[in-house]
Amino acid sequence: MTKPLLDIRDLCVDYVTPHGPVRAVDRVSLEVKPGEILGIAGESGSGKTTLAQALLRILPPPAVISGGEVWFEGSDILALDEPELRAMRWRRMSMVFQSAMDALNPVVTIGEQIVDTLRAHGGSTPRSARARAGELLETVGIPRDRIDGYAHQLSGGMRQRVGIALALALEPALIILDEPITALDVIVEREILEQIRVLQRRLGFAVLFITHDLARMLQVSDRVAVFYAARLAEVAPAAALRRAPRHPYTQGLLRAFPTVHPGGEEPESIPGSPPSLRNPPPGCRFHPRCDRAVDKCRELTPELRPLGAGHFGACHLAE
Ligand SMILES: Nc1ncnc2c1ncn2[C@@H]1O[C@H](COP(=O)(O)OP(=O)(O)OP(=O)(O)O)[C@@H](O)[C@H]1O
Ligand SMILES: [Mg+2]
Repeated sequence: MTKPLLDIRDLCVDYVTPHGPVRAVDRVSLEVKPGEILGIAGESGSGKTTLAQALLRILPPPAVISGGEVWFEGSDILALDEPELRAMRWRRMSMVFQSAMDALNPVVTIGEQIVDTLRAHGGSTPRSARARAGELLETVGIPRDRIDGYAHQLSGGMRQRVGIALALALEPALIILDEPITALDVIVEREILEQIRVLQRRLGFAVLFITHDLARMLQVSDRVAVFYAARLAEVAPAAALRRAPRHPYTQGLLRAFPTVHPGGEEPESIPGSPPSLRNPPPGCRFHPRCDRAVDKCRELTPELRPLGAGHFGACHLAE
């Protein structure tokens, strides 16, 4: 058994509001192995970005980590001080932000932004950093001669690629991609995903890939974790999840994406909407939308349980 690169245990994150805490990540346990692509799927507001920010310890207030542990490359991430965190971020774990469009500085050339990252963390000379910045741009499919251009001179797809180049710059062991491609058209999206896969094979980093689009995720991930209302509903190898999803929520998500079953049934969306995390339903949080719910589902919280061959589910009916 390979030792996990990232080991998240019972992690809880709360947004502390004047009306009381809102738990956006509720007792989440997950592992990422070296070189693995782990997909995180879930509807808007289910806690995906909050989890990612907790891992890098870049949670904006009023969010606080209120429980659990995060181990990364043998270090207890929650125990690191600010200098230790700075040494870890971008060098060992990096992130491409959901709004990568806004993550770039509009008044600094893209080359300089990459050079700054390389020099701040890597201690390279200006000359070697510039050469490396050019290389990185080419790696993500941007011609080297765009190095002195500004973010606004690039297309949306190219800006996302610059975000990926920045995340790759220091060759981290784990890259978090938070909905890196939602704003792009299908062709650019496919190109970027293929590029990430190729780079991942060549450089060997692990990826935490966040999206609400399960179909897209199944194409690129080795394993998939499905979030529902701040909790994990199901975790499984991508092939098993596609073939035999065990949680009714995952089953519903799969039916909602026609691309997963091309030529099959008409896509069907899950009736209802996800609960507010301010006042979530008791028992299984999915029960108000689940057509198979029984009394137990309304009363008892289902724990994530092993269902065989790396497959885990939090459903009373999936035994
Ligand atoms: N500043 C805040 N104050 C209070 N609650 C917040 C705040 N920011 C987020 N939340 C809560 O945290 C939950 C999770 O938000 P998060 O951004 O992590 O979701 P997400 O899964 O990334 O959604 P999306 O797919 O839309 O990006 C939200 O449903 C909301 O209830
Ligand atoms: Mg998000």
